[in-house]
Amino acid sequence: MKKQDYQDTEFSEILKSRYSRRSFLLSSALLGISGLFNRKLIGFELNEKNPNFPFDGIPSNIKDAVTLPSGYDFEVLLSWGDPLWSKFPQFDQRNSGTSYSQKGAFGDNNDGMECFSIENNRCLMVVNNEYTNSHILHQGRETKTAENHDDHQKSKYAHGVSIFEIKRKESLWELVQDSKFNRRITVDTPMLVEGALKFDRRLNFREDAGKHIVLGTISNCGSGKTPWGTFLTCEEGFKGYFSTNQKNYTPDDVLKRYGVTRDGYGYKWHDFEERFDLSKDENDLNNFGYVVEIDPFSPSSKPVKRSALGRFNHENAELVLSKEGKVVVYMGDDGHGEFLYKYVSNNLYRSGKDSSDLLNEGQLYVAKFHPDGKGEWILLNPDSTGMKNPNDILLFTRIAGTAAGGTTMDRPEWVAADPKSSSVYCCLTNNRKRTKEETNGPNPRGKNKYGQIIKWEPFDFDHAATKFRWDIFVLAGNPKVHHDERGGSKNITVENMFACPDGLRFDKEGNMWIQTDGNYTNTGDFKGMGNNQMLMADTKTGQISRFLVGPKECEITGLTWSPDKNTMFVGIQHPGRDGNSNFPDGIGNTPRSSIIAVSRKEKS
Ligand code: FEO
Ligand code: CA
Ligand code: CA
Repeated sequence: MKKQDYQDTEFSEILKSRYSRRSFLLSSALLGISGLFNRKLIGFELNEKNPNFPFDGIPSNIKDAVTLPSGYDFEVLLSWGDPLWSKFPQFDQRNSGTSYSQKGAFGDNNDGMECFSIENNRCLMVVNNEYTNSHILHQGRETKTAENHDDHQKSKYAHGVSIFEIKRKESLWELVQDSKFNRRITVDTPMLVEGALKFDRRLNFREDAGKHIVLGTISNCGSGKTPWGTFLTCEEGFKGYFSTNQKNYTPDDVLKRYGVTRDGYGYKWHDFEERFDLSKDENDLNNFGYVVEIDPFSPSSKPVKRSALGRFNHENAELVLSKEGKVVVYMGDDGHGEFLYKYVSNNLYRSGKDSSDLLNEGQLYVAKFHPDGKGEWILLNPDSTGMKNPNDILLFTRIAGTAAGGTTMDRPEWVAADPKSSSVYCCLTNNRKRTKEETNGPNPRGKNKYGQIIKWEPFDFDHAATKFRWDIFVLAGNPKVHHDERGGSKNITVENMFACPDGLRFDKEGNMWIQTDGNYTNTGDFKGMGNNQMLMADTKTGQISRFLVGPKECEITGLTWSPDKNTMFVGIQHPGRDGNSNFPDGIGNTPRSSIIAVSRKEKS
């Protein structure tokens, strides 16, 4: 039998020995769906205080503030509109600035971010700016939308990626204005396409210095980092930036599958530039939906769209190495009933050697979860998909995933791999569209409002393996309101409950950090759950404890650490989205997405 062939007995034995303290993986798989909802059968014992938690969990709240456990403190590192260069003006609290000020400033709605070390007290931050809230961006306009070309340009520049140097001065981190590394990447930035779609004329290429390029990146959601020192930005909700005034416009079935509608998100970029107009043949829709690689240490370098990693609503890109040294990238497609994917490079990563083709030449797989706790990665190729042109698999990956038999998931958000083991976790944030009849193993609840985190263990602990075992790590829920499956799994209590897990990261100690993007009304099904939050999970015991509560109407997303790991940078996205926050500047000021720097208080 070949090494990667599935050997049930052997694998089960390995799992038993690794998980003997709780056997939760085997138990829930073998209990079946009905057993899964029995809060007495699934989950973890919570009676003992976990000595691995460095803090006491805090209660939920609805304050317009960041709340942390005692012993921890935060400062605001940077907020939307703060200038990265000294020649640009400070953020204008009355009208949110102009295209000029925004072009030189930190973008809006910060999301995935990574810290690249220069030295212990200096590093480069690379941060996604996912979207904007028009009524805040255009607060100075009567219509609260773009009313002229300058407003449109401002809207574009508030999106994209921000790169900036920070340094620690005494105990505080601060921006280094005018650093040679500071850079804004937007939907106007020329980029290269690599992989098979490099020559596919269904993308809208421009010629630039003898090379064909595409313009820009948008809807930059989660992130990833390569071992060769580059940043991966993931284009998620790109479809919403394409729209048209043409009344009889109807998207075809493939476009519908990608969520394209006549009105998009309502940004109306098509009013100002034809490339965003769906009714024009030369629209740029096929230019987006990729993982894009950026070298933060080379400010003049062109970002590269890595088409080999497929095209869908890319959430984040969790890059790990297989036992042999292949590059493996786990990726979620954040759409109702969409899939989980994995890319495996053909060649091996070798430190210091040429890595330029590792994200171009490889295989793309879709995940299939069997109800008995087993799973497999199905290779997407012409045989498995029936798509004769291999480029179609990369351009219309969702169609390929369906044809190959992938398991429909409850909106896969961030994937995170445990650095201390080979286990991998993914937040499935919610799925109001799944009916009870359509439930499946890792997605066991219809009309799923709360979401869950699943885990899988690759066969032979090798990320390149095509077989795995899976289980549910936690079913989020509200045990204060519900006493059925909506109350969540046993490791959810009224003290630690949360809704809609989204961001997910491991720290170097192997603690798992969960960030939420849930309903923040604190009423009805969400009564007592408070504002969005960040929690820490001990994956060995399943215990979860709340570490941070964000200000009103925000999402918590984006997490990285300083080079010495003593500071945790956390993203506060869209505080006051519904008009009820003044974070971080206080009463009377415009709410602004921000990065905060969290650290332990100095002992006096
Ligand atoms: Fe940008 Fe699915 O979150
Ligand atoms: Ca997200
Ligand atoms: Ca989300």
